[in-house]
Amino acid sequence: MVQSSPPVQSVTSEDLLIRRMRIVDIPEIMQIESVSFGKHHWSEDSFRYEIKNQIGRYYSLIHRKEDRLIGYGGYWLIFDEAHITTIAVHNEFRGNGLGDLLLVKMIDRMGTQSVKWVTLEVRTSNTSAQNLYYKYHFRSMGTRPRYYQDTNEDALIMTTENIQSQDFRSVFRENKMHLIERLGGKMPEGAD
Ligand SMILES: CC(C)(COP(=O)(O)OP(=O)(O)OC[C@H]1O[C@@H](n2cnc3c(N)ncnc32)[C@H](O)[C@@H]1OP(=O)(O)O)[C@@H](O)C(=O)NCCC(=O)NCCS
Repeated sequence: MVQSSPPVQSVTSEDLLIRRMRIVDIPEIMQIESVSFGKHHWSEDSFRYEIKNQIGRYYSLIHRKEDRLIGYGGYWLIFDEAHITTIAVHNEFRGNGLGDLLLVKMIDRMGTQSVKWVTLEVRTSNTSAQNLYYKYHFRSMGTRPRYYQDTNEDALIMTTENIQSQDFRSVFRENKMHLIERLGGKMPEGAD
């Protein structure tokens, strides 16, 4: 399996805060968007809409000492299914477990919202993100041909098993334990 590279900047839980996304976060989000998703990234208006979207829940990851936003993620809640719509980490901070952290935060929250299945789409070429999802036992369910209009690339459709099941809970617990160790022994402060 391809290994992730060491981070340019290291962080621990002490440095971090994870909280609901706010409108004032959007300028910093846009910088990460363009680096992460290229020309066809979400617009400021999309984020403005999503922050207020009744079925959406979006989180920002803040570096407290540097007072800057270094990641974000969000999902839609549709009955007992959650659809992850976005997740990204600032390129300088990748490889610290922060993609893990955003995913754990979202799945933890989904668990309190009676979600059973989590789905998402990911570019077939995006192996870093796919590895993250495989780690949390997402499975590939097929493709949406030419889903990404910029390059005509296919999307891989990925989904979890029932996240309330014993099997999923035990994988999730173990990954979360490793994440906590990696971040210095505790989860970062957060607000729902
Ligand atoms: C995908 C992304 C959010 C991962 O964030 P990250 O903070 O670098 O990831 P983490 O350090 O938490 O790594 C978690 C897991 O992801 C996988 N992974 C992350 N980077 C990887 C890389 N460069 N190569 C291979 N696997 C990688 C590994 O499975 C890793 O687990 P491990 O550390 O136990 O090996 C980040 O690369 C990113 O923002 N990419 C651009 C935006 C994007 O593609 N979003 C996904 C859209 S579907």
